[in-house]
Amino acid sequence: MMNRMGIIGAMIEEIELLEQSLAEKKTTEKAGTTFLEGTLHGLPVVVTKCGVGKVNAAMSTQILIDTFEVSAILFTGVAGAVDPRLGIGDIVISEDCMQHDMDVTALGFERGVIPFQEESVFKADRQLADLAYEKGKAVCQSPVWRGRILSGDQFIADKEQGRQLHAQLGGMCTEMEGAAVAQVCSLNKRPFVIIRSMSDRADGSAHENFAEFTKLASRHSFEMSAAIVQA
Ligand code: 5AD
Repeated sequence: MMNRMGIIGAMIEEIELLEQSLAEKKTTEKAGTTFLEGTLHGLPVVVTKCGVGKVNAAMSTQILIDTFEVSAILFTGVAGAVDPRLGIGDIVISEDCMQHDMDVTALGFERGVIPFQEESVFKADRQLADLAYEKGKAVCQSPVWRGRILSGDQFIADKEQGRQLHAQLGGMCTEMEGAAVAQVCSLNKRPFVIIRSMSDRADGSAHENFAEFTKLASRHSFEMSAAIVQA
C-alpha cells in the first residue's frame, strides 16, 4: 500500500478544479475510466471521475485500492439536502453511509439493510471525518454539518420522498455514490470520508439552477478536499 489518497468525484464539475490543480500528471485508463496520478500541494494523489451511480463508484473504488494502492479514499461532490436545516451550498461530512434503495423488506428485513451481510451502515474514518470537519469550518463560508449520507440509484426530486429519507433513515442528504464507496472501503478495510455540498433540496424545486448550484457546491467540496490532503 502506498501512502497516497484516492479522490473520487462522479461528474466532471466535481473534479475539474482538482484536475487543474494537479502537478506531474500521469493518466491511466481502466474499465472505461480515467485515473489521474499526480501531486496536490506536493503530495501524491490519484483522482478519478467515476461516473454517476453505485456500480461506477464501487468499481472505481476497488481499482483505486488494487491498482493504485491508495491508503484512503475521499469522495468530493454534490448532493440533495433532505434535512430541512440545510441550505444550498452547505457541506455535509459523512458520519456514516447507507444505501436507501436497498429494499428487502418483503423478506422481513428493515429498509436499507443488506441481508446476510454483517454491515449495512458504513462508518466513515473518525480521524478523516474530524479533519474534514475542522478544515471545512476553516475554508468554507457555508455551514458545515456531520451526519448520515444516503445513496441510491435515483435522483431524488420529490418532497415527500426526501422527507421520508430524513425521517425514516436519518439522512442529512442524498446522492448516488457515497454508500458504494463506503461499502467497498469497509470490505477492504480502507478509511474513507465522503464530502458533499448541497446542490439542491431533493424536492424538485429550483432544478433550473442545478448546473449553477453544482458549480458552487463543487467549489466548496474542492476547497475542502485540497485542505484535507494538505493536512
Ligand atoms: N438525488 C440524487 N443524487 C443527487 N446528486 C445531487 N443531487 C441529488 C439528488 N437530489 C448527485 C448524485 C449524482 C449527480 C446526479 O448528482 O450523487 O452523482
